[in-house]
Amino acid sequence: MKDALILAALAARENAHAPFSKFKVGAAIEDSAGRVHTGCNVENATYGLTLCAERVAVFKAVSEGAKGFRRVAVAADTEVLTPPCGACRQILWEFCGDVEIVLVNLRGKSETLRLGALFPRPFDGSFL
Ligand code: THU
Repeated sequence: MKDALILAALAARENAHAPFSKFKVGAAIEDSAGRVHTGCNVENATYGLTLCAERVAVFKAVSEGAKGFRRVAVAADTEVLTPPCGACRQILWEFCGDVEIVLVNLRGKSETLRLGALFPRPFDGSFL
């Protein structure tokens, strides 16, 4: 039986709006209350306004008052597991800190790492 957070990310991926890249991504974030918030990538005809699954999940969670994020799952259909892009690493760092990230694909492959390993020496509000 797969972890509920992974299942949530895989299910969210099904909602991806990716008519331009055809690259569907799902994300799920668990908050300190154990609640799961999901997101998928939502593309746009200008391309540049596209939002990644991870940022959609973070912004949905924050907009609903969620805090204290414990774990993030990212699901994509790639053999080499898809990590969050640079912009998402920044947003994840600011809202989730050195959170645990689980990367998964559709064939059950997964890898768990911490955001600090993907995003060393971040710029954040502590500098301001
Ligand atoms: N994308 C994500 O949603 N998350 C990632 O971690 C990598 C990239 C999306 C953005 C775009 O819709 C598509 O994947 C191709 O870059």
